[in-house]
Amino acid sequence: MLFVPYMTRKGYLCTMESTFTSTLLTWYERHARELPWRGIDDAYGIWLSEIILQQTRVQQGRDYWLRFMRRFPHVEELAAASEDEVLRLWQGLGYYSRARNLHTAARQIVAMGGFPRTLEGIRSLKGVGEYTAAAVGSMAFGLPVAAVDGNVYRVLARHFGIDTPIHSTAGKQTFTELAQTLLPADQPGAFNQAMMDFGSLQCTPQSPHCLLCPLAETCVALHEGRVEALPVKLHHTKVTERRLTYLYISCQGQVAIHRRGEGDIWQGLWELVPFIPEGLKDIQLLCKDVKHVLTHRVLFADFYFVESSMKPSLPEDYLWVQETELDDYGKPRLIERLLEMVPRI
Ligand code: ADE
Repeated sequence: MLFVPYMTRKGYLCTMESTFTSTLLTWYERHARELPWRGIDDAYGIWLSEIILQQTRVQQGRDYWLRFMRRFPHVEELAAASEDEVLRLWQGLGYYSRARNLHTAARQIVAMGGFPRTLEGIRSLKGVGEYTAAAVGSMAFGLPVAAVDGNVYRVLARHFGIDTPIHSTAGKQTFTELAQTLLPADQPGAFNQAMMDFGSLQCTPQSPHCLLCPLAETCVALHEGRVEALPVKLHHTKVTERRLTYLYISCQGQVAIHRRGEGDIWQGLWELVPFIPEGLKDIQLLCKDVKHVLTHRVLFADFYFVESSMKPSLPEDYLWVQETELDDYGKPRLIERLLEMVPRI
């Protein structure tokens, strides 16, 4: 049994036998989700799952993980791939800098001669922060470090009745220290994954299943009627709106595309022509104000189509490709959505 000292809301320093950890692990034995990267001892596969799950939910993440592992069963194959291919496999997940970091990190791992086995080494990989390093380190190598994500904040804030805002400096410290105290040194990977599953399945953001909760007896938020109020969050960063125009120019079975440069969204991905060139006739508006939501932006795109017998002059970094080969180019999800509206010609 583990003994955990902690402050109650009334300010007493308590030492209570931590039924929390043992109850959580017992719950996990019965309710753990079956996921293809669980129970493997391949750090590469575990790391890949964590990078994908930064970006999407478990259900969709599983499909992407299986596709990546089929194409790149080992880190060497991922490292040797072209960036284009990695972006193409990532297509649909969004936030493409994550895919570029994944690729860079694969090359770092190969250059290191193998997957790093220390927290510091894992943390040095591109795109790996505190959380991912702790998750991978604990699951792949049994490193005794708590992985603190949104699920962990929520479960701990409710169970221990903590109202420090979760993304404040004080909040991060409080929740990280508490999670670390609760973590059993002999099963850190199981504990971290139990917290993830408990947060996703049981102690959910909306309508948590408190009536059937094995931790109900000791849950401060439940006893004080504050389940809905916790965790406390700081204000979100402001979401900005942006307007875009795209034109599909079809000419002799080809279409003009353009690769996006650095310093903006969708770096390195391919898009259609983002303006209306002069001299084109019979341009057709296919759709107006197509709404597309990114992490910090809401985009509204107007989408035009033209069939032309002559190629209009375009800046030199534009490319004419066969319409039948558009699939070979990694594109943002918005462009994929627009392409579904192109008339079959
Ligand atoms: N979310 C992030 N990592 C996860 C994992 N290993 N299992 C379930 N959900 C997760």
